[in-house]
Amino acid sequence: MKITVVGAGAVGASCAEYIAIKNFASEVVLLDIKEGYAEGKAMDLMQCASLNGFDTKITGSTNDYNKTSNSDICVITSGIPRKPGMTREELIGINAGIVKTVSTSLVKHSPNTILIVVSNPMDTMTYLAHKVTGLPKNKIVGMGGALDSARFKFRLAEALGAPISDVDGMVIGGHSDVGMVPLISHATRNSIKVSEFISSQRLEQVKQDTKVGGATLTKLLGTSAWYAPGAAVSGLVQSIACDQKKIYPCSVLVNGEYGLSDLCIGVPVVLGENGIERIVEIELSDNDKSHLHKSAEGVKKTNALLDA
Ligand code: LAC
Repeated sequence: MKITVVGAGAVGASCAEYIAIKNFASEVVLLDIKEGYAEGKAMDLMQCASLNGFDTKITGSTNDYNKTSNSDICVITSGIPRKPGMTREELIGINAGIVKTVSTSLVKHSPNTILIVVSNPMDTMTYLAHKVTGLPKNKIVGMGGALDSARFKFRLAEALGAPISDVDGMVIGGHSDVGMVPLISHATRNSIKVSEFISSQRLEQVKQDTKVGGATLTKLLGTSAWYAPGAAVSGLVQSIACDQKKIYPCSVLVNGEYGLSDLCIGVPVVLGENGIERIVEIELSDNDKSHLHKSAEGVKKTNALLDA
């Protein structure tokens, strides 16, 4: 398994680190446009190998796509992160050009790759990757819902006073502060609905805290978060690389599923060796369905800016 991660910033390096620590890939190539940066991050990470007990070989390169040739999976983290007070959508002007160049260069060198898009505004960047690469729809996965669901579980565990391992929950919809749809009615503590333990007001607070999960961190850190985004990407990469067939909410090109089409948006999917093995359609409450459709309208508005 050869995996390329483009962008050796905090998110990209954290992706590479978690992939290596999980020790399932033979090779990770880090790529960055900043001279020497990916090489430095790769060397630093390789010096963790004996300490953390992994055999994955991490190499870095300054923008030499030949080094990425024949990657099985490519992760795109390139572009600028948001600053406090910014929405993910405001990044489109700069990031669209970057994602276009990066995704076409990657596919040129690895025509059979599966692409994972992390750059924001992520749902629109995933849609753009489809438009410019023409890869089959099962081969482009946007990472947002896995991260948002991890943040949801964190907030649920906090509200329940329960260990996170006891909690399960999923966030679908667009990866934006307004677009996320945390599925409260499907969330459980050890298979018991969370509404059995806490009030609907407290659950509403959990929902709101989840939706601004990224913005809260951006305000605290002065830039976008990286540990949980990196861990979430490594989960998707492992499910594909090891054909685990795990279910994650991911941004994928929908074609009628959930009554939506011609956009990429977060829905539950099975991830295996073919990328998106299938989209899982679950019964949603009328409320969640209407939120999902509103979310889709928001994503489509941002997609329209691609042609502007
Ligand atoms: C976040 C970025 C990765 O939510 O979108 O932290």
